[in-house]
Amino acid sequence: MKKIVIQGGKTLSGTIPISGAKNSAVALIPAAILCDETTTIFSVPEISDRDNLIEIIKLLNGKVTIENDTLYIDSSNIKNAYIPEELSSKLRASYYFMGALLGKNNYVEIALPGGCKIGNRKIDFHLKGFKALGATIIEEENKYIIKADKLVGNKIYFDFASVGATINVMLTAVKAEGTTVINNAAKEPEIVNIATFLNNMGAKIRGAGTSKITIEGVNYLHKAMIEVIPDRIEAGTYIIIGALLGNKLRVENVIKEHLTSLLSKLQEIGVKIEINENSIVVTKAEKLKAFNITTLIYPGFPTDLAQPMTTLMTQCEGMSILEETIHSNRMGQVPYLNEMGADITVKNQMAFINGKTPLFGQEVTASDLRAGASLVTAGLIAKGTTTIKDIEHILRGYERIVEKLSGVGADIKIIEE
Ligand code: EPU
Repeated sequence: MKKIVIQGGKTLSGTIPISGAKNSAVALIPAAILCDETTTIFSVPEISDRDNLIEIIKLLNGKVTIENDTLYIDSSNIKNAYIPEELSSKLRASYYFMGALLGKNNYVEIALPGGCKIGNRKIDFHLKGFKALGATIIEEENKYIIKADKLVGNKIYFDFASVGATINVMLTAVKAEGTTVINNAAKEPEIVNIATFLNNMGAKIRGAGTSKITIEGVNYLHKAMIEVIPDRIEAGTYIIIGALLGNKLRVENVIKEHLTSLLSKLQEIGVKIEINENSIVVTKAEKLKAFNITTLIYPGFPTDLAQPMTTLMTQCEGMSILEETIHSNRMGQVPYLNEMGADITVKNQMAFINGKTPLFGQEVTASDLRAGASLVTAGLIAKGTTTIKDIEHILRGYERIVEKLSGVGADIKIIEE
C-alpha cells in the first residue's frame, strides 16, 4: 500500500507549474470519440483518470497515442461495446461516454460511474437531457442502456446548473438533428473548454460559459486540436498551501480570472498575493483572520477548494464557518484534522472551525480526492510526521504532487508498504 509521508513545518519557495485541468481533461477525452477523424489534446495531466479513460477508448476500438502530455486520438473506427463496471467505476467521468456514444452511435451500454463518495451524486439531469433529445433509457441493476432511433434537438432546463449534465447533453446534442437549448447550464471554465474543442471539430455551440447554451446539430466532425486549460483547483490548492507556508511561492501557468473567488478571499484575510498575467506569487501572512465561505457554482467559491480551505481555517484567529452547498457529504477531512489538533464541529453541511490551533502529525486517511488535499496541506504545517493512507484518491487528481511540493522545499515522499 502506498502512503504519503510528510515532515511538516518547511517554508516553501520557488515555482510550482500547474498542469492541465483534471475536470476538463476527463471530459475532453470522451468528447474526442465524437470526432469522425483524429484529434489532438495538449496538456493532458498524467493522472490515473486519464489512463482509465484511454482504456475505455481502446475498448471502443479507438486508437490513442501518448507523447509526453499530448494525446492523439483516432476515433474514426469507434464501435459500440459494453463499458463494464471494472472500467466505469474507476472514475466519475466515465459517464461522459454516455453522451458521447449516444451522440455518435445512438446507443450506449455502460455500468454505473464511480468517483469520490462525497454525496448522493445522482445523474437524473443527464438522463432527463438524453430523453428530451429522443433517447430511451433502460435502467438495469447496475447498468444503463441508452438508445435512440434518432436524436432531435430540444429545449432543456436543469433544476441545478450541473457541470456533468451540461457537458453530457452538449456531447449528445452536437450531432442531433436541429437545435438544442440548455437553460440553467453550468458556467464553469471546463464547459467552455469542451465547447471550444467541439466547435474546433465543426460543431455549432454558442453561449458556453453563460447559463444558456445553444447547439445546432451537424452531421460530421472533423480533425481538431485543443489545449486543456490550467487546473484552477490544483492551482488553488497550492495557493492555499502558499498562504500557510509560502515565501514568494510562485504558482505558474494559471488563468487568474478562474481564481478570483479564492484570491479575493485570501486577500481579505491578510495573505500577501501578487497577481501576474500567468502566475500568482503568495507569501504567508503573520496573522490570519477568521472568515466564512459558502461554496457556490462558478464564479462563486468552488466546492473543490473548500476542503483544503478547512485546513487554512484552522490557522485563522477566531471562528470560521464553511458552508458546503454543492455536495451533501464533503467533510471527510474533518475527523482527521481534529485528530491532528483542530477544533472543528460539523452540523449538517456546515463546519465551524475554531482557530488558531497547532496541528500535530498523525496517521490519517484520504477519504476522497480533496479531503486528501486538505490532509496534505495539514501535514505540511503540522509538527512532526504525518502519514496519509489511501493516497490513490489524491493521485487521481494531482499530477506529480510529491515532486511538485518537494521541488519547492517540502519534505514529502511516497512510501510503499
Ligand atoms: N446532481 C443531481 N443530479 C444530476 C447531476 C447532479 O442531483 O443529474 C447534483 C449532485 O448530486 C451534486 C450537484 O448536483 O449535489 C452538483 O453536481 P455536478 O453535476 O455539478 O457535479 P459533477 O459533474 O458530478 C463536477 C466535478 C466535481 C465538482 C462538481 C462541481 C468532474 C469529473 N467532477 O462533478 O469535481 O465538485 O462538478 O463543480 O468534473 C473534484 O474534482 O474533486 C470533484 C468532485
